[in-house]
Amino acid sequence: MTHRIPHAALLELAARRRRTDDVLRAIAVTTVLGGREVLRGVDLAVRRGEVFVIMGPSGCGKTTILRHLAGLQPPSSGTISVEGRDLYALSADELDALRLRTGLAFQGGALLGSLSVEDNVALPLRENTTLPDAVIRQVARMKLDMVGLLHAKDLLPARLSGGMKKRAAIARAIALDPEIVYLDEPSAGLDPITAAGIDNLILKLNAVFGITMVVVTHDLPSASGIADRIAVFLDGKVAAVGTRDEIWGSSEPRIRDFVDRRLREPEGEAADIARYFTI
Ligand SMILES: Nc1ncnc2c1ncn2[C@@H]1O[C@H](COP(=O)(O)OP(=O)(O)O)[C@@H](O)[C@H]1O
Ligand SMILES: [Mg+2]
Repeated sequence: MTHRIPHAALLELAARRRRTDDVLRAIAVTTVLGGREVLRGVDLAVRRGEVFVIMGPSGCGKTTILRHLAGLQPPSSGTISVEGRDLYALSADELDALRLRTGLAFQGGALLGSLSVEDNVALPLRENTTLPDAVIRQVARMKLDMVGLLHAKDLLPARLSGGMKKRAAIARAIALDPEIVYLDEPSAGLDPITAAGIDNLILKLNAVFGITMVVVTHDLPSASGIADRIAVFLDGKVAAVGTRDEIWGSSEPRIRDFVDRRLREPEGEAADIARYFTI
């Protein structure tokens, strides 16, 4: 699994796996943080087996909606449902059971610095299963192999490059064979070639294993390369949702501003930085 599968082959494989039922929904989600309404009535639906990308300028609420969808934090109002069940009405046991079927890799990677890469990946298996240690090690190594990081299994996180940290975090996110994986800015801060490698990994996990991927990014090339569908978040709302062609072909001025990177203040500075690093 360490080699790259051609982009076109991945897309073809993924298309065969795609389903039309909604696995995740946000309905009228509103969230107040620090006295400010960060999300202002978000509606979205993620289909089983797709790569769903949440895109938008810095500070528009992408991480916040991802935390809601992943069961980490309830919204101030509105509903998050997973397979038709209200996520935040589940009992603690039901929520735990659901969490075992999902994987998360958040922005900073959040690897434990005192544990080797292999032990970081093994952690969810040690905490949630009673498998013998030899089996856990084998599974952890298999996951590391899947993300192209088996050679680094004995290293401590501090020894990893930025791209390797992201891969390790993804390996940990897939440790328990999840059905849904949430990734927050998986290629942020990486050089374009390393970022493209992460994008290929995302497509591979989706196409080969059928994992539903919900990916937050402000990186337009990455979004357009991996997404089945994209939701553009602006001012705490879903301003548009559609395929790459629908979003890039939109005639709506605010969407055009975003895809053409003519972002208005106060996002101008973030846009300048994004432009500087991605071109
Ligand atoms: N715990 C918090 N308390 C107060 N404000 C917050 C908190 N978390 C996020 N925010 C604010 O909410 C807005 C959206 O944050 P976030 O979802 O992280 O945006 P994004 O991921 O799109 O950059 C930002 O303005 C941020 O400063
Ligand atoms: Mg964020």
